[in-house]
Amino acid sequence: MTDPQHPALLVTSRRAQGCPFEPASELTALRERSDLPMLSGEHPFLGHFDVRAVTRYADVRAISAHEHVSPGTNVNRDGPRTLFNQPGFLLSYDGPEHARLRRMLTGAFTVRRLQQMRPWIERIVSAQLDAMQEAGPEVDLVAMYALPIPSLVICELLGVPYTDRADFQHRSAVLLDFTRTAEEQVANYAAMYAYMAELVARLRAEPGDSLLGEVVTKHSDDVTDEELIGFGNLLLIAGHETTSNMIALGTLALLRNPEQLAAVRDDDEVTTPAVEELLRYLSIVSQIGRHATADLDVTGHEIAAGEGLSLSILAANQDPELVGPDAGLDVRRKPVPHLAFGFGPHQCLGQQLARIELKAALPELLRRFPTLRLALPFERIDFRVLSPVYGLMSLPLSW
Ligand code: HEM
Repeated sequence: MTDPQHPALLVTSRRAQGCPFEPASELTALRERSDLPMLSGEHPFLGHFDVRAVTRYADVRAISAHEHVSPGTNVNRDGPRTLFNQPGFLLSYDGPEHARLRRMLTGAFTVRRLQQMRPWIERIVSAQLDAMQEAGPEVDLVAMYALPIPSLVICELLGVPYTDRADFQHRSAVLLDFTRTAEEQVANYAAMYAYMAELVARLRAEPGDSLLGEVVTKHSDDVTDEELIGFGNLLLIAGHETTSNMIALGTLALLRNPEQLAAVRDDDEVTTPAVEELLRYLSIVSQIGRHATADLDVTGHEIAAGEGLSLSILAANQDPELVGPDAGLDVRRKPVPHLAFGFGPHQCLGQQLARIELKAALPELLRRFPTLRLALPFERIDFRVLSPVYGLMSLPLSW
């Protein structure tokens, strides 16, 4: 098992040694403090940084939504392109410019589109289960199920051929791998950029009916090619690594809790609360980075302009203020307003889509393979510790 105490990992995203789903004891200890303690970290290529740890539910919520708290570095249109220095990459914007760009995407994530996608997603799930059955009785759930489902969905949203998936899956995995060097990341982003630039040129000529195509049709003169490239790369990364890790880690968490697994498998009424609870309990986006753009006084804390903040979604979602004294997994828990999709202006744009995918993927897997079990000892499972999206490298299962 990967060492969850890796020194490069900020305490705000650290999991417990004995239970790699739950926050480390040093993280829950921070939540009991009344201040926002300063932490130091080493980014693999950006170097040393200091941030304040925000760990309580009420603080994470209030600070995420504060108008003078920003996630972005602001796009420098003339600077070299990186994931964050890319027009259209919503997490690099604030205020009216963010709202303008975000509206173009929310306008295309319509209820009608989501409703159309639901039966189609159910068919994808069923086809992946058939493929698993054929390949079994032992498979890697990540490669055969957790990754293909969101990848197929994202291909549909972007209007790209599924045959390109090996390349873009590889590039988004490299992007989220904090052990890569700066050179590797720059080369990787250049490849992502080139791929999206080609797609955008195709969509300009023939928009089609994909989500990105619809943005081109509706906003043709108001959106630049660079912004479309940013939209495409953002959707590709945000929509595919997250859902995939939720499917794999959610399955593992249920396998460790057989009584709860049986409830998800056998009782349709449990599906919705179980998905909300797994999102909360696993908090796969463990922490998000922010900085103050002005001197702030928020929920009783003074934060100076320019200070960095690490908002621990992991700690906040397990705060007794939110869930009471027992924060452990309970798939029958009445859903609570968790922060797994963030909060405030940057709250996840794909959350309804992610819910549809998870509700389709988790119960059906358990129904198709009622004897599903781990194909290796739990201690040998490889967790994705050094990544902004927590999850599993692979999950060998048998039935
Ligand atoms: C279970 C799956 C998912 C989780 C846990 C998740 C989590 C999050 C979180 C925590 C944020 C806020 C980041 C921040 O404030 O710094 C976010 C933003 C975002 N997510 Fe998701 N996400 C998921 C699935 C998706 C999907 C399926 C899509 C699209 C297809 C998507 C698209 C986005 C976008 C575009 C943003 C940026 C919004 C903005 O900056 O205005 N996400 N997500």
